[in-house]
Amino acid sequence: MKISIITVFPEIYESFLKTSLVARATGKGLVEFNLVRMSDMCKPKEHIDEPTCGPGTGMIIKPEIIERAIESCEKKWNKGFKIFFSPQGKKLDQRLFQKLAKNIRSYGSTSSPRTNDIIKVAVRGELVEPYEQIKKSNYSHLILVCSRYEGMDVRVEEYYADEILSIGDYVVMGGDLPAQVFLEGILRLIPGVVGKQESVEQESFTSAFLDCPEYGLPVEWKDKKIPEIVRSGNHAQIEKWRTEQAAKKTVQKRFDWFVLSNPSEKEIDLAKKFIPNHYVALMHTQILVKKDQVGNTSITSLDIHDIARSCATYGIKNYFMVTLLKDQQKILNKFLDFWKSQEGKDYNLSRFVAVQRVVPSFSLDDVIAKIKEQENVEPLIIATSARDVLAGKQIDFFSQSQIFKLNRPVLFIFGTGHGLSEKVLKKSDFILCPVKGMTDYNHLSVRSAAAIVLDRWLGLNSIIIE
Ligand SMILES: C[S@@+](CC[C@H](N)C(=O)[O-])C[C@H]1O[C@@H](n2cnc3c(N)ncnc32)[C@H](O)[C@@H]1O
Repeated sequence: MKISIITVFPEIYESFLKTSLVARATGKGLVEFNLVRMSDMCKPKEHIDEPTCGPGTGMIIKPEIIERAIESCEKKWNKGFKIFFSPQGKKLDQRLFQKLAKNIRSYGSTSSPRTNDIIKVAVRGELVEPYEQIKKSNYSHLILVCSRYEGMDVRVEEYYADEILSIGDYVVMGGDLPAQVFLEGILRLIPGVVGKQESVEQESFTSAFLDCPEYGLPVEWKDKKIPEIVRSGNHAQIEKWRTEQAAKKTVQKRFDWFVLSNPSEKEIDLAKKFIPNHYVALMHTQILVKKDQVGNTSITSLDIHDIARSCATYGIKNYFMVTLLKDQQKILNKFLDFWKSQEGKDYNLSRFVAVQRVVPSFSLDDVIAKIKEQENVEPLIIATSARDVLAGKQIDFFSQSQIFKLNRPVLFIFGTGHGLSEKVLKKSDFILCPVKGMTDYNHLSVRSAAAIVLDRWLGLNSIIIE
């Protein structure tokens, strides 16, 4: 593969290109570099940059400099696939690296055995061919354009960039570190660059799970021992342990990655082993009925089966409907008697299945006791509210790993009426950020709020992987 790098400071690449795997890849003829210094593109007395137009300070690289630099690269190695770096670009992750690696065409460096071949790249353990349209596109090398100062004149990106990449939502001083991050990520996907291809394929972010924990000698270090199983010599057992540990680490560190990685059924089953049991309570008691007045609300039949159906979808173990009032309990039990009967089952099987998890209850303490009876430990209580309350206890919809790590069952409490009483909020361990739209209408039904909360907390988020 041939790679041109257009930069203000080629010296930044001196040790990078001469070190470790990048140097080895160059030595093996798998990759060849062409460094282009922007100032070499200047005419006598010309500068590479100009002050930005309009109010404000800062310098912008001149379009003509990039134009000449690109022309010089294409004169040397023909048409290049041009990658620009900008914090406003597509955020690089392993998926994007795999997609880009699939698309990169190698155009024979002199000593490469793959001269004029399309390099095959490893994706999830398989060697795959790049996309058809890329094969047709005739790119013969990669051109990395690294900006500095205030960045690039926007017209240059608009005109030339085939891809604009960001290394994350922060700003560094120039495109050279982003280019080196890109090179380290992409080159290791080209077979032959990293010694053992399996080590690339089993890395974090190549499946729904992060990499498993790894150990090396000594057996004991700072009172920490390598787990017996790892030294047992039983390869099948070690493999099983590693996969489970990878699932555990992912759930407890990067649940956000897991839900966005289109996990297989097997991966879901494994992850579930490390997600604590979840419960839901809908409070009709200890509720704000008017401003500052605490009381009871009535049970609604829609809340029984709609929330039960959401609970079934997201794997909630029990859905407690909490009311202190005897006549309300009677109504609830009558309803449940039907839906838990053969008649209810024959009438609507999926509703029958959902309603099995509904448990009548008369107070929050009763709910906690019932969970403790099943789990031998009290649940962590996460209250929900339509308003921002008790800021110190707030968690957001990205806090799952932090909560799952605590290894305790989780109880979500939803309110009716005007919301949960102060007493219930104080008893809770955490309060979830409110569900909000971009309007000031703040009256979601509790059924809708429960569905949104459960989906954001435990839902998978399918993405289309091209
Ligand atoms: C100081 S930055 C300019 C930032 C630009 N004014 C903005 O706010 O989007 C200078 C150059 O560094 C590079 N750069 C900075 N942060 C980056 C990031 N997170 N990802 C990729 N490139 C980055 C880009 O090439 C950028 O043009």
